[in-house]
Amino acid sequence: MTMLLTIALSKGRIFQETLPLLAAAGILPVDDPETSRKLILDTNQPDVKLVIIRATDVPTYVQYGAADLGVAGKDVLIEHGGEGLYEPLDLNIARCRLMVAGHPDHRPQRSRPRIATKYPNTTRRYFADQGRQVEVIKLYGSMELAPLVGLADYIVDVVDTGNTLKANGLAPLEHIADISSRLIVNKAAMKMKHARIKTIIERMAAAVAA
Ligand code: ATP
Ligand code: PRP
Repeated sequence: MTMLLTIALSKGRIFQETLPLLAAAGILPVDDPETSRKLILDTNQPDVKLVIIRATDVPTYVQYGAADLGVAGKDVLIEHGGEGLYEPLDLNIARCRLMVAGHPDHRPQRSRPRIATKYPNTTRRYFADQGRQVEVIKLYGSMELAPLVGLADYIVDVVDTGNTLKANGLAPLEHIADISSRLIVNKAAMKMKHARIKTIIERMAAAVAA
């Protein structure tokens, strides 16, 4: 009896950059998530399926065992907390930096500066660890807008080229963490489906190193 293996991925850069690593593990998707409306994609292996979900939901699916494996940004994993997950492999893809950004010469008028972010847990911890009092405002996207319209003094977001910040008159100010995407594994699946998952990790690791 072969057990079904489910891998959670998000569309866009993570799917695109994970494709060659999956191929190295012998897994080739049959459908293209950018054009298909299907959320469960078949692969060349009848017992391997891909589930296509929002990037921030990947750790949740893997934590609860709805997916055995997943690929998630370290930013998303830090924010999630990593409960129920193993993180056996840095895939070295979707690399960027988690940063505090804002107007370089901005001086907050509030006693507790406001920080807009889609990473409220990470942001609270970063400032609390330094003993800095801030008010965190949770957003779901377009963080760069918040300082421009007075919603927040600063933002915490991922930065790659810095072009998005620059286009909005903002600058990176403080480095919080280097980010790349990680292979994550459900803890129970790692035991129950150990041989298959171990093979996938080894083949993907070899492709990352190459
Ligand atoms: P959602 O759709 O759930 O809001 P998202 O828009 O952040 O998620 P992506 O933009 O595909 O999803 O980002 C996925 C991951 O890629 C992020 O969690 C981060 O680790 C990384 N990432 C985000 N932006 C960049 C970038 N500009 N360059 C490189 N890596 C990035
Ligand atoms: C991400 C992120 C930043 C931008 C940083 O957005 O939210 O806005 O990339 O990259 P840069 O420093 O190279 O400009 P993305 O392009 O993924 O769009 P999204 O808002 O749909 O996630």
